[in-house]
Amino acid sequence: MRTKIVAGNWKMNKLPSEAPALIEGIRKATNDGDCGVDVVVCVPFTDIPAAAQALKGSKIGLGAQNMHWKDAGAYTGEISAAMLKDLGVQYVILGHSERRQYFAETDETVNLKLKAALAAGLTPIVCVGETLEEREEGKMQEVIVRQVSEDLAGCQEDFARIVIAYEPVWAIGTGKTATSTQAQEVHALIRATLAKMNPEQADEVRIQYGGSMKPENAADLMSKPDIDGGLIGGAALKADSFAAIVHAGK
Ligand code: 13P
Repeated sequence: MRTKIVAGNWKMNKLPSEAPALIEGIRKATNDGDCGVDVVVCVPFTDIPAAAQALKGSKIGLGAQNMHWKDAGAYTGEISAAMLKDLGVQYVILGHSERRQYFAETDETVNLKLKAALAAGLTPIVCVGETLEEREEGKMQEVIVRQVSEDLAGCQEDFARIVIAYEPVWAIGTGKTATSTQAQEVHALIRATLAKMNPEQADEVRIQYGGSMKPENAADLMSKPDIDGGLIGGAALKADSFAAIVHAGK
């Protein structure tokens, strides 16, 4: 059985001075993350020290939202896996659609980052998902298979350490959720693609759903056989709604 994993992606929200209060609320509402579901908060880089401090003594994991693939060097404005590790970060989101859309992230750079994250001992959350246009043109399968194959290429031996998030771009921040049946179809496709790459570990990979996940739809989505949790945007910015989604995963 795969333990469900629910992660909050705070995106570019919450000041370092605001992060501890939200974390305090999440701690209270999730029994300090000791609730049968793995709970993670992925915060802006600048919030990491305050979040690490606020999470002390809890089982809630700390994540970042991006990183560079090089260890160190002349890469102005970038953050390495070692820098994250040094601050106590355990998870890192890679290839979020907002990074692909606005910051020229490609399958190639996601793959480089994935290898660097694994080498540093971080747990990567690799995001894949089709746009509305791709879905309407009947290209969903092609896009998903390409992203999974290229993003995870060469990492077959580490599949059990990788988390994947299926985030249909058309469902992010739009209030339009994929139905649980639509999502399950893509999650099964992702797992089948993984199984072609490494049949031994494909069943161990946890695949989260992301895109307008809320307390109202979380239990239905996570009741599906290949939906192993959620990556939550808007609803992760309030302790009550985030915790309600966590509890729906039980
Ligand atoms: P929303 O939950 O706000 O739709 O965002 C989903 C997301 O992008 C999580 O990474």
